[in-house]
Amino acid sequence: MKIIDGKATARAIKEEIKAEVDIMISAGHRNPHLAAILVGHDGGSETYVAYKIKDCKDVGFKSSLVRFEDDVAEEVLLEKIRELNNDDELDGFIVQLPLPSHINEQNVIETIDPTKDVDGFHPVNVGRTVIGLPSFVSATPNGIIELLKRYHIETSGKHCVVVGRSNIVGRPMSILMSQKSINATVTVAHSRTKDLESLCASADILIAALGAPGFIKSHMVKEGAVVIDVGTTRIPSTETKSGFRLKGDVVYEEVAPKCAFITPVPGGVGPMTRVSLLSNTLMAAKGNIYT
Ligand code: GUN
Repeated sequence: MKIIDGKATARAIKEEIKAEVDIMISAGHRNPHLAAILVGHDGGSETYVAYKIKDCKDVGFKSSLVRFEDDVAEEVLLEKIRELNNDDELDGFIVQLPLPSHINEQNVIETIDPTKDVDGFHPVNVGRTVIGLPSFVSATPNGIIELLKRYHIETSGKHCVVVGRSNIVGRPMSILMSQKSINATVTVAHSRTKDLESLCASADILIAALGAPGFIKSHMVKEGAVVIDVGTTRIPSTETKSGFRLKGDVVYEEVAPKCAFITPVPGGVGPMTRVSLLSNTLMAAKGNIYT
């Protein structure tokens, strides 16, 4: 069994990005610039945005944080997005989700200029991904593909079961796994899937993205499978400074001994998700990715 070290891989990619930024700067370009819009004070969102800003600093990107209180009117938020769309000093931006319930998330996503949509959530980017055109791909699936490539994991002809069909992870993941460069045969499982346990046990590559801590147990995993755990549920803990710890969708201790490869939580997919946003921002800074 081999542990896929997302933390070390992300660190290596950050070094690569930083080296590219240094080259851009010496060629007379300005620093790549990412902005984040944060609405309200949700603890998880605050933490994720703080990480994004720190990551930018680590690789030599400029970052900006735009804050709104959670009673902000949707139109005010949309107007800010239009302003950022037209800001030539900004390469890409994200609106941290989830948003308060009075704001229509889809309106927000569709107001972002697709060429600045480094989250890859705009339907233009999702659609371009589906038909294999250059696009911004959402960070978690992008990071998982990068891990599979860097660990030289055979995907061609393999049966990949993706558990979860969210727009951010499960669905784009299933699309990427079926693409010509990856060539897996993909099954998307979800809450209505019949006999989920034996379906999971038939997977050569099992991608667990349901957000249900400890859902995938040993009997649901084939001997020699590759298991990618996307779960990052925050659960209260007395052992950490933050008062939380992350729990994956996979019962690691009992599943790991059966696997060829497995991602731990934390230190697997999470750091790759973070670094993918940087890769997308660098792509945006280098010019129009659609040409
Ligand atoms: N909330 C949870 N994950 C994400 C993400 O990747 N991007 C944004 N904008 N919000 C999120």
